[in-house]
Amino acid sequence: MLKAQADRSIVADIDGYSDPLGKFGAAAAARAQELRAGLPLPSSPSAEDGEAERDVARLIRQLARRGLLEYCLRRGEDANDLVVIEPQTADYWPQAPKLTDTTTVALSRFAYLRRRGSEMVLESPRAGALFRICDPEIASLLMALAAPQTIGSIRRRDDYPGPALLALLLDCQMLFAVAPAKRDALRQAEGDDGLVLWDFHDLLFHTRSTEGRQANPLGGLYPHTGQIAPLPAIRPAWAGKTVKLQEPSGTASPLEKLLHERHSVRDFDGERPITLRELSTFLNGVARVRARWSSPLEFDDGPDIEYTSRPYPGAGSAYELELYLAITNCDGLAPGFYHYDAAAHALTAIDVQQQQLAAMLQSAEFAMDVPSPPPILITIAARFGRISWKYSAIAYALILKDVGVLTQTLYMMAAGLGLGGCAIGTTNIDLFAKMTGLEFHVEGPVGQFALGRGAEPLVSG
Ligand SMILES: Cc1cc2nc3c(=O)[nH]c(=O)nc-3n(C[C@H](O)[C@H](O)[C@H](O)COP(=O)(O)O)c2cc1C
Repeated sequence: MLKAQADRSIVADIDGYSDPLGKFGAAAAARAQELRAGLPLPSSPSAEDGEAERDVARLIRQLARRGLLEYCLRRGEDANDLVVIEPQTADYWPQAPKLTDTTTVALSRFAYLRRRGSEMVLESPRAGALFRICDPEIASLLMALAAPQTIGSIRRRDDYPGPALLALLLDCQMLFAVAPAKRDALRQAEGDDGLVLWDFHDLLFHTRSTEGRQANPLGGLYPHTGQIAPLPAIRPAWAGKTVKLQEPSGTASPLEKLLHERHSVRDFDGERPITLRELSTFLNGVARVRARWSSPLEFDDGPDIEYTSRPYPGAGSAYELELYLAITNCDGLAPGFYHYDAAAHALTAIDVQQQQLAAMLQSAEFAMDVPSPPPILITIAARFGRISWKYSAIAYALILKDVGVLTQTLYMMAAGLGLGGCAIGTTNIDLFAKMTGLEFHVEGPVGQFALGRGAEPLVSG
């Protein structure tokens, strides 16, 4: 709900939480109330526009930036909705590029129609928005678009929805322009090599299980409370004959001791930060390249492939995982964002916007439910193509398994050095892309780990 205050400011009230949008004139405040029923989308403000129009345009941009707007497309002013566009990324703004009759377009292999509640939605992990389909003729048009079509031939169809929808779909990468030479190789025709390497279900899983490219609720929300009983912590025993195992005798091995003493640490000692020497020992122990070699592919004509060996096991010895460190408090290392060069055993500073770095640290704080950012936040990023060049269908699953293996290694090394850490289950792939300039489908975050010296000693007694 939008509320106009006495001081001319407008506030968005979302479930009791107030978000100030800025100060606006009286005319904009009055128009704001019409937004519930819908307002035509303003074009970019021009010098001729009056103050009221500029105000409304500014208000609409503020609402869009917060994901509080959806956009309806109709055939005519009084007609029913063709589609309703629901933004999924923070910076989505509907754009309608000009189309020519000779342009050939096809449906993206990442786009899919599905039922959501009692509606049909068209979604794609590449798109900044989803399209709620309100007119069944659009479904038949989408079916035709499975094969490349020129805009001219689409315009001659009975179910032609007008140019705006096609342009909006193209802008969202639900449709893509097909170069004539690539009509018969649609997978190669869509996007760069980094995208060609992705299987449909893997890119969908990646974008739907991370933050940044979707607007769905995410995390520990207990969505089934009251409807389905929680599962017990321990699996009910099988009915078969039981063989009781022996109790351990003698003293525990150092590894067993470490395994049993390890626990997640979220509260760090701000007075005694980790030193650069400790961080070097930590990174050397967990992730440094230990050997490097290449060998030819098993079958004919393949290129030689480069491999490395590292302290933790990795699927296919691909070692697609990279460590990025956000430093807030490390003795001997300036705060900032760094990449760990696992071959050179060196940290390379990456110039990032302070606001974005702060946002990354703040989400880690939120995920751990603590009042301050961790001294060091490690982001585990994957070079996806390193795995998907070889493995079909299981590439993303292997990456997540590798993240699990590396995460346990980080926990164990931290415990072994008397340090503390905590895995973090959420990452924002859009924020990382903005910070690094790397495309989200080329290299992106798949895990996070907070590291520091625990406020309490790790081992009791
Ligand atoms: C994959 C994974 C994700 C996790 N995500 C979070 C998280 O987002 N926030 C958090 O406070 N702890 C997180 N944890 C830590 C777990 O809560 C913790 O390991 C668990 O409660 C068991 O406690 P312990 O590690 O102290 O033995 C995560 C652990 C794992 C392995």
